[in-house]
Amino acid sequence: MRPMSILPIPLLGAGLLFASILAHAAPPPEAASCAACHGAGGQGLPAANYPRLAGLPAQYIAEQLKYFAEGTRQNAIMVGMAKPLTPAQITLLADYYASLPVAMPAAAASVAPDLLARGQQLAEFGDWKAGIPACFRCHAAGGVGVPPYFPPIVGQSAKYLADQMTAWQSGARKGDPQGLMHSVASRMTSTDTQAVAAYLAALKPAAAVLGNAAQTGGAK
Ligand code: HEC
Ligand code: HEC
Repeated sequence: MRPMSILPIPLLGAGLLFASILAHAAPPPEAASCAACHGAGGQGLPAANYPRLAGLPAQYIAEQLKYFAEGTRQNAIMVGMAKPLTPAQITLLADYYASLPVAMPAAAASVAPDLLARGQQLAEFGDWKAGIPACFRCHAAGGVGVPPYFPPIVGQSAKYLADQMTAWQSGARKGDPQGLMHSVASRMTSTDTQAVAAYLAALKPAAAVLGNAAQTGGAK
């Protein structure tokens, strides 16, 4: 037999990523309808504002699907997707997406340095005068998240992140434990929202997030 050919390093990297995707459980049948927007590997489609699902905590995914179905979280597309799902299907989908490895997102658009600096300040330290706590106090250093309650906020597009802050301000998104995100978001100006979203979108996910398989089994 011929020995395996030696791949150039970038190809080898892609091969390993592919292999690790293959190593995960087969997707449940319902995932076929999700892939159109969230991608086959659950990486989302930032240009179209479809968030990444790969590596989100299973319990968080399951809860968001219930919120969409109940109207606690309003989004015309996702309400229609979530309503027909049974609790068993939700558990399977949540465990599946939580188990998928996270790929490095494409480089974010360049942003004015002062906006990025304000975003970094909010993420790392908050703004005590405005009563805004540091995002990383709850979402962990680098925004990698703390399962099951605090989702990662790194590796999503600036538009998606900013939209979520606006949705909490307006009440279109609810269900956050103790109204935590509503109270954080309602203290932020629209410049603050844009700044923190731009900063987080430009941040490279730490190794802890990349290739991560977040804990499954939380979607009860
Ligand atoms: C036609 C496009 C589309 C399809 C198909 C779709 N989604 Fe979504 N999904 C979206 C959009 C857009 C959002 C962002 C909603 C918002 O801004 O609140 C979203 C958000 C989500 C979220 C919340 C993510 C987060 O970080 O809070 C989950 C979970 C989710 N979708 C799961 C699914 C599942 C599971 C399926 C298949 C059953 C599915 N989606 C099918 C477009 C889609
Ligand atoms: C006191 C704790 C706390 C702080 C501080 C906090 N968050 Fe959150 N955040 C949460 C919780 C809890 C959730 C999950 C909400 C849910 O389950 O619906 C969340 C969810 C989110 C999400 C949704 C992610 C997704 O995939 O849809 C975004 C975006 C977010 N937070 C951004 C921020 C930003 C930006 C800051 C700083 C300005 C911040 N958070 C500060 C507790 C916090």
